[in-house]
Amino acid sequence: MLIPLLRRQILGEILIFVIAAIPLVAVWVLDAGSAVKISVSVLAVLFLLRLPILILASRKIVLPDGTRLTLMLNGYFRGGKLVMVSVGESDARVIRYERNGLALQYNKLAEGRLAIEALQEEAFRLRWLQGRVPVPRFRKFSSRWNSACLTTIALPGSDLTAMIHEMEPKELVRLLARAMRSWHETPVDDCPFDHSPNADLDRALAAIEAGQVDEANFEPQWEKRSADDLLDELESMLPLPTYEPVLTHGDFTLPNVIIDRGKISGLVDVGRAGVSDRHKDLAICARSVRRNLGEQHVDLLFREYGITHVDPVRLKFFTMLDELF
Ligand SMILES: Nc1ncnc2c1ncn2[C@@H]1O[C@H](COP(=O)(O)OP(=O)(O)OP(=O)(O)O)[C@@H](O)[C@H]1O
Ligand SMILES: [Mg+2]
Repeated sequence: MLIPLLRRQILGEILIFVIAAIPLVAVWVLDAGSAVKISVSVLAVLFLLRLPILILASRKIVLPDGTRLTLMLNGYFRGGKLVMVSVGESDARVIRYERNGLALQYNKLAEGRLAIEALQEEAFRLRWLQGRVPVPRFRKFSSRWNSACLTTIALPGSDLTAMIHEMEPKELVRLLARAMRSWHETPVDDCPFDHSPNADLDRALAAIEAGQVDEANFEPQWEKRSADDLLDELESMLPLPTYEPVLTHGDFTLPNVIIDRGKISGLVDVGRAGVSDRHKDLAICARSVRRNLGEQHVDLLFREYGITHVDPVRLKFFTMLDELF
């Protein structure tokens, strides 16, 4: 079972505290000589103050957009360069750490309880996916006060949006379809992340109640509708036909696919990965292909993926559902 990362981090801090306190208590109980008492006490106090010392010693990081960050970036070394990445749609800020022009790590930052929880969900999924499908190596998830940071090792290459003018659209679509197939062929027997239509509707309801859904950001076809209205229509579409459960990425879009020298090196942004209907990835990917490459390439995506009957009702359901995240 996955141990919640935040709880593990807190347990780690408590453990360090206990380990530091043991020799301190021991020298006083055993009434050791004063030289031993003093040196053990100094060491223990330094150890107990480890966290505040670390925080004080860490210099404040000023991001390229001018924001001052109180959070210590995981594995941030002097001498490198921090570059803001602004492709995604979320509130999460992504910062690339590079040295000598080479991307080394990506730090995804979240502020506020809900954003931290979402980032923690992404960290859980990323850890589970390691070795199962090509994704970035998980390095660390840490949280301090009101912010959290997920650090991943950079996948080689760039995302597919950077390749739109470099490669043939047909070739890009073929690569997307093949990558999607391999995700959907991954065994899911022990996958703990349920993203079935019902589970996702529950999540959507929670997001609406928490005021997280941005109605101003809806696609043109739904721009006059409210989030509650979309949710009602989605509920009225249930139950969907039974489906073969597969491992879906949940946000299978061009910016989330990384390509290196003509080959896909992996998918990022796995916060919504889990077991669902393959139509979910097909719907979201078709929308991304339509936006970035043009409607004329959508059929090729389905053909290359190898699906003979695409269900338009399910495509609509999953495209609409995505508006609520
Ligand atoms: N480990 C990585 N290796 C290579 N590129 C990465 C990596 N992590 C992030 N990126 C790049 O940074 C971009 C933004 O990252 P990500 O997709 O995780 O954030 P986002 O889309 O802003 O978040 P969200 O979808 O949760 O709103 C990606 O599109 C990709 O280009
Ligand atoms: Mg993204």
